[in-house]
Amino acid sequence: MEENNKSTLKVNKIKDGIVIDHIDHGKALKVLSTLGIDGGEDFTVSILMNVRSKAVDSFKDIVKIEKRVLSKGELDRISLVSPGATINIIKNYEIERKFTVEIPDRIVGIVKCSNQNCISNNKEPVTAEFTLESRSPLKIRCIYCDRTLTQQELYHKI
Ligand code: CTP
Ligand code: ZN
Repeated sequence: MEENNKSTLKVNKIKDGIVIDHIDHGKALKVLSTLGIDGGEDFTVSILMNVRSKAVDSFKDIVKIEKRVLSKGELDRISLVSPGATINIIKNYEIERKFTVEIPDRIVGIVKCSNQNCISNNKEPVTAEFTLESRSPLKIRCIYCDRTLTQQELYHKI
């Protein structure tokens, strides 16, 4: 958790924005990069990596983004980077909504196909598209060339 033994917060609560919690440890920076956030924006971003999770002997990352909303496409991106992430929408310090991201059935324009010969990797304006083959373990299939990608493989293609 974010509180240390003296119960002082390592990172403040936020007033308005998004807290992305329960990110697989080590993936916080990937979550930010897939959202296109690099610190050059005018809103405050807090990143916590390898903090203790409620689950015994487990660690997680947390990202807090102030004064920002997330689009459906951005939620889809987060679901592919870290399927168990929870989204907390904060309004005036209160949690207005809390939900777990959900991997969409069709993944359009997010992941690049790993097959270099795939039509979606050619010059033609073909948008990469995958269908969800399995949620757990995560596996997606290219609709053009049938190539499947595992969670680990697609992580580098987002
Ligand atoms: N949070 C925040 N600012 C707020 C409210 C909450 O930054 N104004 C953060 C908390 O610090 C926590 C996350 O949002 O990291 C979720 O808050 P909360 O539901 O209170 O914590 P938990 O009960 O631990 O969440 P969960 O049950 O989802 O594990
Ligand atoms: Zn393909």
